[in-house]
Amino acid sequence: MKAIAVCACYVKKNLTDNFKKDNMIQVEGLTKRYGSRLAIDHLTFHADKGEIVGFLGPNGAGKTTTMRILTGYMPASEGKAIVAGRDVFTDSLEARKRIGYLPETVPLYTEMSVWQYLDFMGELRQLPNRDDRIEEVMESVHMTDRADSLISNLSKGMRQRVGLAQALLHKPEVLILDEPTIGLDPAQVRDVRELIRELGGERTVMLSTHILSEAQAICNRVLIINKGKILAEDTPDRLRARLSGGDRVGVKVMGDGAGLTEALNKVPGVTAVHPIKDGEYEIDAAPGGNIRPEIAKAVVNGGWNLMELKAMGMSLEEIYLQLVREEAEEEEAQNA
Ligand SMILES: Nc1ncnc2c1ncn2[C@@H]1O[C@H](COP(=O)(O)OP(=O)(O)OP(=O)(O)O)[C@@H](O)[C@H]1O
Ligand SMILES: [Mg+2]
Repeated sequence: MKAIAVCACYVKKNLTDNFKKDNMIQVEGLTKRYGSRLAIDHLTFHADKGEIVGFLGPNGAGKTTTMRILTGYMPASEGKAIVAGRDVFTDSLEARKRIGYLPETVPLYTEMSVWQYLDFMGELRQLPNRDDRIEEVMESVHMTDRADSLISNLSKGMRQRVGLAQALLHKPEVLILDEPTIGLDPAQVRDVRELIRELGGERTVMLSTHILSEAQAICNRVLIINKGKILAEDTPDRLRARLSGGDRVGVKVMGDGAGLTEALNKVPGVTAVHPIKDGEYEIDAAPGGNIRPEIAKAVVNGGWNLMELKAMGMSLEEIYLQLVREEAEEEEAQNA
């Protein structure tokens, strides 16, 4: 028993020592309790240099809580967090110097101009060559022409960019962005996503979102979180492949396709046929084989005119729902 305790202690103590140069965020067993409510429950994850990692989960999943802890705004109840090689809890000041944080609601001083605000934030961070750096960040968020605009007169999207600009001021190695596109119109969403993509590669970005297509569009890796627990972690593509378990094939024939459901169900490897509308079907197939040639044969031999046959991936949306469902089923089974 004693040996195990010593061993666990050794592992904990050496998390900073074990910090890999490319590991910009390293979190182990991170837990936060608000009274008796468990907001995050032993989270373990990492983000490598240059990666854009998405924290994807519904309301109340624990995204903001995790980000507040990582950025030193709130203590954890348990666990370890290393950001850019610095322990967030024991070396907080040094860790914070290396982090740019866009909080869920950016505390912008609305009576200031964009320049005045960034200047003020730069002063707080004791930034050298402040004017030059402010010009640089304004350029990178495409706001150069709005330097003198009062923040109160900016649109939500523009304010979000000012928030991003303050997060970038001190050239942080790690950017933590809490729902960076929330409340923006579609054109602004596109701009901010583009901007984040530009920032990745050089910096490590961790962003939270509850929009599945957003994680799919921007992130190299996605952590799916629900009720404070990580349900899955992978690239969007691999998550889809891993969870779909098999293939999904789309078939379109001329006409209403009467009788085709029965014919498709007879093809070896087909596990389900979902009629979408007249002449259109989605077919689930067992993993491990390409059944498209067999499906094509069944359609043509049955006398239908094949218009389209395509492989379809499971959407991140379906994956997400499946994971949440599995989690609920597991919980139910445990409680039974
Ligand atoms: N200050 C607090 N006091 C008590 N409970 C809190 C506090 N802040 C958050 N919580 C609870 O912790 C859990 C996680 O909340 P959190 O804000 O981290 O979720 P989130 O994933 O950011 O959600 P959202 O998508 O709505 O922003 C929720 O159950 C929430 O009610
Ligand atoms: Mg939140």
